[in-house]
Amino acid sequence: MAAIVVSFASSLASTSSSSTPLIFTKLRSAPALGLSFAIRPLCSRRGKRMAHAHALATLGLTQPAPIEPHKISFSAKEIDVVEWKGDILAVGVTEKDMVKDENSKFQNSILKKLDSQLGGLLAEASLEEDFTGKPGQSTVLRLPGLGSKRVGLIGLGQSSSTTTAYRSLGEAVAAAAKAAQASNVAVVLASPEELSAELKLSTASAIASGTVLGTYEDTRFKSESKKPALKSVDILGLGTGSELEKKLKYTEDVCSGIIFGKELVNAPANVLTPGVLAEEAAKIASMYSDVFSATILNVEQCKELKMGSYLGVAAASENPPHFIHLCYKPPGGSVKTKLALVGKGLTFDSGGYNIKTGPGCLIELMKFDMGGSAAVLGAAKALGQIKPAGVEVHFIVAACENMISGAGMRPGDILTASNGKTIEVNNTDAEGRLTLADALVYACNQGVEKIVDLATLTGACIVALGPSIAGIFTPSDDLASEVIAASEVSGEKLWRMPLEESYWESMKSGVADMVNTGGRQGGAITAALFLKQFVDEKVQWMHIDMAGPVWNDKKKAATGFGISTLVEWVLKNSS
Ligand code: BES
Ligand code: MN
Ligand code: ZN
Repeated sequence: MAAIVVSFASSLASTSSSSTPLIFTKLRSAPALGLSFAIRPLCSRRGKRMAHAHALATLGLTQPAPIEPHKISFSAKEIDVVEWKGDILAVGVTEKDMVKDENSKFQNSILKKLDSQLGGLLAEASLEEDFTGKPGQSTVLRLPGLGSKRVGLIGLGQSSSTTTAYRSLGEAVAAAAKAAQASNVAVVLASPEELSAELKLSTASAIASGTVLGTYEDTRFKSESKKPALKSVDILGLGTGSELEKKLKYTEDVCSGIIFGKELVNAPANVLTPGVLAEEAAKIASMYSDVFSATILNVEQCKELKMGSYLGVAAASENPPHFIHLCYKPPGGSVKTKLALVGKGLTFDSGGYNIKTGPGCLIELMKFDMGGSAAVLGAAKALGQIKPAGVEVHFIVAACENMISGAGMRPGDILTASNGKTIEVNNTDAEGRLTLADALVYACNQGVEKIVDLATLTGACIVALGPSIAGIFTPSDDLASEVIAASEVSGEKLWRMPLEESYWESMKSGVADMVNTGGRQGGAITAALFLKQFVDEKVQWMHIDMAGPVWNDKKKAATGFGISTLVEWVLKNSS
């Protein structure tokens, strides 16, 4: 019996642990790798504006609690289910596994074995509870006669199960462990023999990620919270060995990126300002300084680069903008492909002068308007641990707030982006595309072959695809199939939308090169067409509108959407 132990940890215990706000300035003598900026306390800066910014940083006196990362260790084992000792033995069963013979006995060998050990109580109880193995069904029974205190039956649905079903199995295991305050759990499939060696790996991975993410709860802003009881999970019957060990380590890395991304999105805008977002990005670079370098540009530096479109959005804010650029270079140094991931990073979107009003405008949720940047930085964190070869990746976020003040941009103002194109701002609430315009120009200047941008860009995309599917827009069929293939592994839902060029008609301006919003119709498409104006034609580019899937309304929490797909896509481009 071989055992693999992998521990999972939430890394971002606190978005801002220091009490003094920090400013990052790029150093002239930047080293090739490592952190290329100095940190100095904000209070050393002169001026009334800065004093005000300091007051804002303490708005509401809220600080995230420095919560210890929770660790769950996973072991892959090959032992008999009736011999396993612990709190819950969770069995994943399909509807086919639940079929009984004419004597009301299980036919499935694992269920048969457990049932005979329990004197027929398992068959009896599952009948009484009407458990048939449908997806979402689960029942936990306290039964004497086994090494395990409890037996859980968890429904997987029809006989051919998917990654999504196994991830849900992990989530159900987490829920059962929470309800029973269990610290040791085993997970086994009733019919593991139906899985190929490769499917066993991805199944173990899906179970592990479902368990970790299902156990995770963001309690940083609660004055009281209880630690999860779950400490160890034994995965039985899916094999052992170094390949599985590697897969579980990879799963752990991706989960830590997802948890980091969720925490960025969950943090309110008075805590997660553009400066704090930049600080979090810089922390990733210093944590994985063997592969990352960071460049954080301040307003003056962005002005030098002529980022008038981005700075127009940031103009009304007391919290200054920070342009974030992390660069991943593989260990060993040889690079075959250069990629860029660009994320919308509006730490708050009030709408500006076109202020968000009325029920359903979701202004109170607009802290999530940096979900694209959270996906990009979450992927950076995961990749800093995975360290793929042969690929260089640029992570780019033009972070700012969309606020209102006498210094803010007005509807009708004309902005000039860093590629020289002029934009008549006919709606200040279409701000995401204005920040992305300069970020995309900057990304193209890094000499990358492919760019994927992610943004909570339009309410129109939610109308089109609902809350759990992201829209993808790209002129490149090759890039579309790459990213769709990645999403099939990650289980995140994407749907390709048309880049209908004839709709550009509605984006024409009388005075400038373009306006920033078309009509109400096809709003997600015209937004994508706007972004396309800022991308080199030689570069393969995809825009992902994740306005719907960024947030889980039922759980009132961030989903971490995009991270696992981005990591998979970068790995497809590695060698
Ligand atoms: N951040 C919003 C998009 C959004 C809205 C995301 C609701 C999630 C939920 C974006 O900046 C925005 O305000 N878009 C406008 C565009 C319009 C003015 C053309 C929108 O969708 O209403
Ligand atoms: Mn907006
Ligand atoms: Zn927005």
